[in-house]
Amino acid sequence: MKFFKRLSLARIIPAILFFPLLAGCTELGPGTTFDVKTSIGRQQLDLFMLTFWLGLAVLIVVFAVFLFVIIKYRVSDDHDKSDIPAQTHGHTGLEISWTILPIILVIIMVVPTVRLTLLQEAESARTSENDIVVNVTGHQWWWKFEYPELGITTANELHIPEGKRATFNLKSADVLHSFWVPQMAGKKDLIPGQDNVLWFIPDEGSAQDEPYYGHCAELCLGAHAYMRFRVKVDTAEEFDAWVNDMQGASLQKVSADPLVQKGRQAYVQKGCAGCHTVQGQHVGNARYPDLTNYGQRSIVAGIETNTPENLATWIRDPQIFKPGNYMPTLWSGAEGEEEQIEAIVAYLHSLGVEDLSQASAQR
Ligand code: CUA
Repeated sequence: MKFFKRLSLARIIPAILFFPLLAGCTELGPGTTFDVKTSIGRQQLDLFMLTFWLGLAVLIVVFAVFLFVIIKYRVSDDHDKSDIPAQTHGHTGLEISWTILPIILVIIMVVPTVRLTLLQEAESARTSENDIVVNVTGHQWWWKFEYPELGITTANELHIPEGKRATFNLKSADVLHSFWVPQMAGKKDLIPGQDNVLWFIPDEGSAQDEPYYGHCAELCLGAHAYMRFRVKVDTAEEFDAWVNDMQGASLQKVSADPLVQKGRQAYVQKGCAGCHTVQGQHVGNARYPDLTNYGQRSIVAGIETNTPENLATWIRDPQIFKPGNYMPTLWSGAEGEEEQIEAIVAYLHSLGVEDLSQASAQR
């Protein structure tokens, strides 16, 4: 066919070069929405897939007609250019069909959307004693998680038990943020002056497939891209143990290890204690992340694995992992500072940890 002869290599190559970009896409990466672990997440995924396939069907029909027309009615070389085709205006049959068809398509999408939204609303209002309630406050650029019924406050790492409904009361301390755990459910905004609610029930067995990643999904300036958190879905026993630790069983304990003792002093001397509360030991400021039982955390600053090296890097220069964040650099490179940092790391990693030699094994 003439049409294909006109397709020169120079036109095809750029299109082919474009395809490797698709290699950047993956279906089951850490932030996947295709491997969800809650029933509400699966219903949302079904809704997305319905819309996707409908959209794809429309795309295929439109492109098929489009290609058919441009190939079939292409001007041939021997065509007399002065010969203007017959002019037409309007086509009642077509006009009616392309008005009615989209209406039908929209109805097909609207009905399940409204039904799911109403179901979510109805479920939000229905609370049970088994629910885990978490008050989530978005701060530039970290997450505060408070469990009002359990008297627990923590930051950047959320613990929820599998099989129970977790209800999140979403608030913002400053600007718009958005709470999003892609493998659990759709996102919802944290809006200053407005209380939003989001809930989901992690599937039984979902504790096996950790970790789950959370993200701020609303541009909140500065370190927005690094405003992340982890969701630890626990078995009932793990969750009870964590609650027990967070409620006091391990709070007052300070290891007699000399490095830990030195770190505890440095924590106060350098002013860390002025901002960061460690329950049972230091009263900081509620506007900054609570570090109670920090030794049990799996991540540093919501981002990096909680190894001694990473925690030291974070303390030494908080701008490395989370550019733009508000934590000050306390160090000038003076002599003895590395030892202080090492001691603070040892102190923080001792918090909530029974046996210090087990500290890194727990993660
Ligand atoms: Cu908070 Cu983006």
